Amino acid sequence: MVAKKTFENIKSLLKKHYQDPLLAFWAELNTAQKQNLLAQIEELDFAKIDYWVANFVKKSISAKIAGDFAPARSYSPHPANAEQKRKYDKAIELGKELIRQSKVAGLVVAGGQGTRLGFDGPKGNFSISPVKNKTLFQIFAETIAAVSRKYQAVCPWYIMTSPLNYAETLEIFRSNSYYGLNEKDVFIFEQGTLPNFSFDGKILLADKAHIACSPDGHGGTLKALYQSGVLEDMKKRGVEFISYWQVDNPLVNIFDPLFIGLHALDGAEMSSKALIKSGPYEKVGNFCLVDGKITVIEYSDLPDELAEKRNPDDSLVFRLGSIAIHIINRSFVERLNAEGFSLPLHRAVKKIPHINQQGKPVEPTEPNGIKLETFIFDALPFASNSIILETIRELEFAPTKNATGIDSVETARQMMVARAANWLESAGVTVPKKPDGSIDCLIEIAPSFALEKEDLKSKLTRVPQIKPKAKLYLA
Ligand code: UD1
Repeated sequence: MVAKKTFENIKSLLKKHYQDPLLAFWAELNTAQKQNLLAQIEELDFAKIDYWVANFVKKSISAKIAGDFAPARSYSPHPANAEQKRKYDKAIELGKELIRQSKVAGLVVAGGQGTRLGFDGPKGNFSISPVKNKTLFQIFAETIAAVSRKYQAVCPWYIMTSPLNYAETLEIFRSNSYYGLNEKDVFIFEQGTLPNFSFDGKILLADKAHIACSPDGHGGTLKALYQSGVLEDMKKRGVEFISYWQVDNPLVNIFDPLFIGLHALDGAEMSSKALIKSGPYEKVGNFCLVDGKITVIEYSDLPDELAEKRNPDDSLVFRLGSIAIHIINRSFVERLNAEGFSLPLHRAVKKIPHINQQGKPVEPTEPNGIKLETFIFDALPFASNSIILETIRELEFAPTKNATGIDSVETARQMMVARAANWLESAGVTVPKKPDGSIDCLIEIAPSFALEKEDLKSKLTRVPQIKPKAKLYLA
């Protein structure tokens, strides 16, 4: 039985905050459903919800651009002078040493589904590699295995899922025997959720006994790391640095000694990789300095006149785009959780399936409500120090977002082949080309064969002559 007092308390709490429709179907629920619904309601922080409804649901606060807003500075991909070369060399050595000492862990955010790819299931299970059709998860797993071998180190891997794809992700790893990794070094955990709202600020019901919720965005990582016990696990293992990336990028260089080393040498708490944007409106976050702090302003929030602004040499003033690759100190995440931080909310107008006041399911064809999310890069201004390392698009960034067109499966596969060809050509191998200069074969280099182009040098005897239209897999 649900205690009458508990029920009455919750009922008046909901009334006070204009959310009493959550109990509209109470009389129709069985005891277990009632208890479950009350537990969901008790999880909600109504003071915060009132604020969200007033400020994000009923109106949209646009990101404010401060007066002393400026472009951020970055380290260039290659050292600019002899002094910087010495620093880069030192950073690479330090980065390698930190990996060898197992002080660096991988963390992929994989809460998203493959919906935009027209794929049903966790995006990490999407087959992407050009010859062997390996999934994103398999490519990452093989990379981690190869790094562990190269540095004779344990490289633990943390995978953040959403409550929607946690069980499926776990099953994918189990049925693939963790892709050969040691199961105890792979930790799959869940992010939190936030309730969904109608445009007039009411929390929606998914069915008569469940609140409609959605994942709290990749910003949820910072709380989930703490709440899931991942931080504790990292501490036990002596992990100090978290290498963070998004599940949709098969070219990511997960354990990059230069990036890790520069971050550590400069005493940074959270750092980022950037690339030069392909144009003013490329759909990537923009690195800016706001009040002297490195901050990412989403492409949708950067005013057109700033996006278009050019330097005398015609380059974009705001040219550094975020590729959502970060090094984050474990101690930084611990500090944020100990201090009780909160990240700003971002509002998204979405189609949200729910039940209406009559209890009938609604499958909207038009946006009908608001989902709220937090973004990991909003933690950057909290870092006492932060660096940006510019990287080269062709080598490290192949976002797989759409089924066709820009940032698609097709472009990602082309980029994987192009990088493999680039590595082979720089080692002296001839790669067949079409008359227009494009690559006339398919090449896939397994992480076990080479993690970077330097790894190829000792393996050239194993590379056959490549014929036009060939399909070559190097492993
Ligand atoms: C993102 C970034 C953008 C960056 C670009 C690079 C945002 C808002 N924008 O765009 O600044 O330049 O990638 O490719 O992030 N995820 C979760 N849980 C969630 C939501 C997302 O784990 O609740 C994960 C996804 O699985 C994915 C990543 O976060 O790995 C990015 O999410 P996505 O929605 O694809 O971001 P984009 O809008 O593509």
